[in-house]
Amino acid sequence: MQDLISLLKSHGQEQLLRFWGDLTESEQGNLEKQIRNLDFEQIDRLVDEYVLQEPEIKLPDELYPAPYFPLEPAEHEKELYANAVKIGKELISRNKVAALTVAGGQGTRLGYDGPKGTFPITPVKHKSLFQYFAESIARYNEKYNCHIQWYIMTSELNDAPTREFFSENNFFGLDPAEIMFFVQGTMPAIDYQGKLLMKSKSSMALAPDGHGGTLMALHRSGALDRMKSSGAKYISYFQVDNPLVSIVDPLFIGLHHIEGAEMSARMLAKTGPFEKLGNFCISDSKLQIIEYSDMPEDLAKATNADGSLKFIAGSPAIHIINREFVERLTEFGRLKLPWHRADKKVPHLDAQGQFVEPQKSNAVKLETFIFDALPLANKTMILEARREEEFSPTKNAAGVDSVVSSKQMLVERDAARLEQAGIEIPRKSDGTPECIVEISPRIIVDDHDAVEYVKNHVMPSPAPGTEVYVE
Ligand code: UD1
Repeated sequence: MQDLISLLKSHGQEQLLRFWGDLTESEQGNLEKQIRNLDFEQIDRLVDEYVLQEPEIKLPDELYPAPYFPLEPAEHEKELYANAVKIGKELISRNKVAALTVAGGQGTRLGYDGPKGTFPITPVKHKSLFQYFAESIARYNEKYNCHIQWYIMTSELNDAPTREFFSENNFFGLDPAEIMFFVQGTMPAIDYQGKLLMKSKSSMALAPDGHGGTLMALHRSGALDRMKSSGAKYISYFQVDNPLVSIVDPLFIGLHHIEGAEMSARMLAKTGPFEKLGNFCISDSKLQIIEYSDMPEDLAKATNADGSLKFIAGSPAIHIINREFVERLTEFGRLKLPWHRADKKVPHLDAQGQFVEPQKSNAVKLETFIFDALPLANKTMILEARREEEFSPTKNAAGVDSVVSSKQMLVERDAARLEQAGIEIPRKSDGTPECIVEISPRIIVDDHDAVEYVKNHVMPSPAPGTEVYVE
């Protein structure tokens, strides 16, 4: 106990033990564990650099738009793409690719009180995001005759309910041995005087450390070792909020492999200069993503001679990351990614033990971002994605990037899939489907599957105004 007190004193954080005398033995044990988990030297440095002063967002002097492989190959790239698809399929079927979903975030913007992955997203059957991904993986396993390992990153806030959700639902038919949950790290909320805040008498106010924390969490949890012993070489990384994503995409994986990249990314043409997507930029010959909130307005709006946006490439947060790259970045047990400061209203106990719910920002939360690993990679590759087929972010309850727009995109993608397979889809005058279509990813995960399905089943065209579920 004495060493705990002197540790906190030497770092000016003795307020963490202010209510120690009021705690039960087990509460004391928990608080002590939280405190001993912290790296105080790092916290001291972060307080100086990011809390006591507003960190200056230092952008490189010169930023250039990043080059990328287009969706449709140019004539001279056709052979490369065809070869990449072949190699990508082989890598998937030889179990060289593991799937990784980051699902540790708080989903506050969605206004949903539960792990985001449990949110019902599909338009007809109201399947959750997790179920949708699980069924897709089951279909890929069947299609490529493989066993895709699925790594799901949770946080302390949602780990237990996430695991319960999977076990209550029998892992949606997947083999539980192929799924590994691992918990990301946390960071304490720090007030503007540099003091760590208490959420209750027995707990600090802690928050997930950002999806950059994925890399250390993979190392700490033994997930990297597990991948290594099973022979998985590539990690297919995506966010839990994007049901449209192709969990394993042969072209993307194959190009990553052929190019010898350590970390790759999909890109989308942004809908406008201020769409809330990270921007792919090159500086000093290194690829980096400048977050939408940090992108200077003049650069965001800069145009080419033909009027198109210069920095057109936005990030849907879909990556292939080499397992060995993550091993290298984490081998000394500490990862060097830059921290990002967010000012937040953090509820906490004041010195008298009164619970305070601040009306304005009172503290700093610090996070690292996975895409800050891109400049650390020896080689990177970017491949364009078709928005309608890869990206339907479910971030807000309504409006842009919302539950409503995400469901609509699922319907449009599935309707288009049936249409290209020969089924007539009734459409409104604005071109949107005049029916609600949901395809089960358990049987169809791409256009080819849809064609095969339609060949082998009698399927009438949906009547206007109806709901259709294809399984
Ligand atoms: C994010 C990206 C942005 C990208 C956009 C695409 C950041 C900072 N920016 O924006 O570049 O264009 O998505 O949709 O991420 N998560 C964790 N643990 C954490 C924090 C987040 O697992 O500690 C997960 C969330 O569950 C979510 C994802 O990471 O799946 C993204 O987090 P979110 O806060 O929604 O990022 P955005 O600002 O929307």
